[in-house]
Amino acid sequence: MLVAPSILSADFGALAEEVKSVCALGADYVHIDVMDGHFVPNLTIGPAVVAAAAKAADKPLDIHLMVENNPFFVELFAPLKPEFLSFHIEEEKHPHRLITRIRDLGIRPAIALNPHTNESEIEYLLGDLDMVLLMSVNPGFGGQRFILSALEKIRRLKYLIAKRNPKCLIEVDGGICADNIAALKEAGADIVVAGAYIFGAADRKAAIDSLA
Ligand code: DX5
Ligand code: ZN
Repeated sequence: MLVAPSILSADFGALAEEVKSVCALGADYVHIDVMDGHFVPNLTIGPAVVAAAAKAADKPLDIHLMVENNPFFVELFAPLKPEFLSFHIEEEKHPHRLITRIRDLGIRPAIALNPHTNESEIEYLLGDLDMVLLMSVNPGFGGQRFILSALEKIRRLKYLIAKRNPKCLIEVDGGICADNIAALKEAGADIVVAGAYIFGAADRKAAIDSLA
């Protein structure tokens, strides 16, 4: 299992040290939550702060956009060269066009699904995606409780991926900790995002190891 600590729960007053710490302790990616105060009821960080995190990171960035006007934010963050750039299907009228644009920018395209969104919404996009991000909480905040129906959605998505594009990864985001990691592995998740569980742990290495 690949592990992507979400810096949403990091100490932003010491962001560079926080990013360096999780990279040194075994993170595979650094997960960055970009929120605009419109698509979700919270506001986070822009390219200047993400650039500071990128400078401190020796692991690739995984940028999760939770915004309206996705094409604008794709162009804004593309110069930071993240490994993955995810946008929400609920907010995009022309997802295939945006996937193509992200790929042309040299970034691996991903689509995120809110807890209520059926995996069938993206069946005909899977062939062009490198990753699907399944939200297992309502997007906007760290430290929320895992929504159990995400497990069934992973299994159903796995079936569609096997049919359409077996190389496409499944990332799960929200409420992940040692209590649900075995079920996530069994269901078929490839990457887990964890914020509160890792950054709130007294022993962050043990927390990352317990998910890997
Ligand atoms: C929520 C974000 C998550 C969040 C996860 O909208 O997308 O990445 O930081 O945090 P935890 O692991 O605390 O639920
Ligand atoms: Zn996220």
